[in-house]
Amino acid sequence: MELKKQLKQYQNIIDEELTKYIKKETCPEEKWQQSMEYSLMAGGKRLRPILVLSTYQLFQEDTKIAMPYAVAIEMVHNFSLIHDDLPGIDNDDFRHGKPTNHKQFGESTAILAGDGLLNQGYEVISQTLAKTTNPEEIQRQIRVLGEFSHAVSRMLAGEYVDTEWEGKQISSLELEYIHNNKTAALLKLCVRMGAILAKAPENDIEKLTHYAEKIGLAFQIKDDILSVEGDEKILGKPVGNDEKKQKCTYVSLYGLEEAKGKLNQLTEKAIQELEPYGEKAEFLKQLAIYIQTRNK
Ligand code: IPE
Ligand code: IPE
Ligand code: MG
Ligand code: MG
Repeated sequence: MELKKQLKQYQNIIDEELTKYIKKETCPEEKWQQSMEYSLMAGGKRLRPILVLSTYQLFQEDTKIAMPYAVAIEMVHNFSLIHDDLPGIDNDDFRHGKPTNHKQFGESTAILAGDGLLNQGYEVISQTLAKTTNPEEIQRQIRVLGEFSHAVSRMLAGEYVDTEWEGKQISSLELEYIHNNKTAALLKLCVRMGAILAKAPENDIEKLTHYAEKIGLAFQIKDDILSVEGDEKILGKPVGNDEKKQKCTYVSLYGLEEAKGKLNQLTEKAIQELEPYGEKAEFLKQLAIYIQTRNK
C-alpha cells in the first residue's frame, strides 16, 4: 500500500481513539475542555502514535495494548505544542493553519489546557494499568510508564535550554543536545514503547532505539529547514520565526545546505538500522523517508 494511504489509515484510527477521550460537558470549565479539544483535534500528523503502533506491529498484530500509550503520547505532544507557542516561549500565533491556543482562548486558558493534556496522558495510562491483570504485562507497562515520564522530562529540559540559549553562540554538541532532548526524546520513546509493549527481545529494542534516535534528530533538523524554506500555507505555522527569535538551529549553525546534508545522512543511517528486519520494516523505512521529505 502507498505510504500516504497507510498514514491516513493510522491517522483515522488515532483520531477515532482520541475522540473517545474528549469531554463535552456543560460545566464551569467547558471552555477549558474546548481549548484542549481545539489543539488535540487540530490536524496534527499523528507521527508519534503512528510510531508506537507501527513499531508494535513489527512484533504483534492486534494493537489493543499499545493504543492507550499511542493516545497518551499524542496528548502530551499537544501539551508541548500549546506551551511551546506561548508568548513566554516561542510566541507563535499560528499552528495547524489556525490561531494558536493562547490566541484563540487567551493565555491563562492555554496554560491550563496544556497542563490538562499532560495530565490526561498519565490518566489514560493509569486507567489501562488498573485494568491489566497479567503480572508480566503489568511489569512491562510499568517499565514503559517509567520511560514515558523520563522522556517527557527530557523534552521539557530541551524546551528549557532551547529558550535559555536563544541568541547565544553555541557549539554543535550543545545544539545536538537541544534537539535530542526537545524532540528526539519523545520520538525515541514512541519506538521503545511499541517494542517493549510488543514483548520484543532486548536486542531488538536496542536496535530500534538506534533507528529512533536518528529519525528523532532528523525530524527536528527538517523542522529547522522548514522554518526557513517551508510554505506557510502547507506547514500551517509561521516560517522565518526561528531566525526572528535567534533560535539555535541546524540552519543557523551550519547553513541550509549542510543542514540538508546532515538530514540525508541521518535518514540513510536510520534506514540501515532496519536492515535486519527486511520487508517487515518497510513501513518504518518509509517513515524515515517521509520525515526527510515532508513539507509539513
Ligand atoms: C512539531 O511536531 C514540534 C516538533 C517537535 C518539531 P509535529 O510536526 O510532529 O507536530 P504535528 O502534531 O504534526 O503538528
Ligand atoms: C518544538 O520545537 C519542540 C516541542 C514542542 C517540544 P520548535 O519550537 O522548534 O517546533 P515548532 O516549529 O514550533 O513546531
Ligand atoms: Mg520551540
Ligand atoms: Mg516553536
